[in-house]
Amino acid sequence: MTNTMDERIKKIETAAQYIESRLDGRKPVAAIILGSGLGQLAEIIEDRITIPYAEIPCFPVSTVIGHKGNFICGYLGGKCVIAMQGRFHYYEGYDMATLTLPVRVMSKLGVKVLMVSNAAGALNPDYKVGDTVIIRDHINFMPNPLIGPNMEDFGPRFPDMTCPYDLELQEKALEIAAGMGIKLDKGVYFGGTGPTYETPAEVRFFRAIGADLVGMSTVPEVIVARHCGLRVFGMSVVTNVANTENVERNFNDGEDVVQQANAATQRMIPLFTKLVESL
Ligand code: HPA
Repeated sequence: MTNTMDERIKKIETAAQYIESRLDGRKPVAAIILGSGLGQLAEIIEDRITIPYAEIPCFPVSTVIGHKGNFICGYLGGKCVIAMQGRFHYYEGYDMATLTLPVRVMSKLGVKVLMVSNAAGALNPDYKVGDTVIIRDHINFMPNPLIGPNMEDFGPRFPDMTCPYDLELQEKALEIAAGMGIKLDKGVYFGGTGPTYETPAEVRFFRAIGADLVGMSTVPEVIVARHCGLRVFGMSVVTNVANTENVERNFNDGEDVVQQANAATQRMIPLFTKLVESL
């Protein structure tokens, strides 16, 4: 067991040292995981240094052909950030240690904040396609990424989870959104393994246990970020409304959904930028 642990730490340190060697002495203060909702944010990061995952020793490589896999370090809202363009999902077949390794690596680089975005289905009947929702809590239905020998150098065996999403960052995001005339909800994100979407019976179940949003990402990274002591901010773009009845087809498919999601991205980019600026 101890050997396994040593191997994990060796990988994290090797990857972190390599990335650091490519950063020209830059010290990123925040990490950003660019989910489906926020991919275009990468383009407005200034003075970018791009590091493909494939060049990083001990780093996982994306299985999805044509999928971007880069770290981008540069300036956003005047702050040095490191962004992940392309994330790893459990449903792709990565084990939890591998898929959360990037978070530990970014923590090793010295970031203090993790900002994550994702696309999610709406369970809350008040949500509409294109809504942007602050994640205020989550329900984890994936294997816990901290199972196994604890990495004492990073955090405790039994991390507290009463406040996984930073309250101050949520408050700031609401203020910024209000200033921009954007409506923002706060919701509970249900993290499942995928890759199947939910059956109507599952949708009713997840709603009943208090979830507002459902998706297949984010929760493992957030758990590991909290283990590392990072402050976390998360946001979802509602790309579809989950069905509660067995209908013939998914009425959420189509151009409209893509358009609404894109419009949401256009609102999220300035919001994330201002939030980073306020750090
Ligand atoms: N379910 C799970 N994951 C998702 C969904 C959904 O409806 N929409 C986007 N990601």
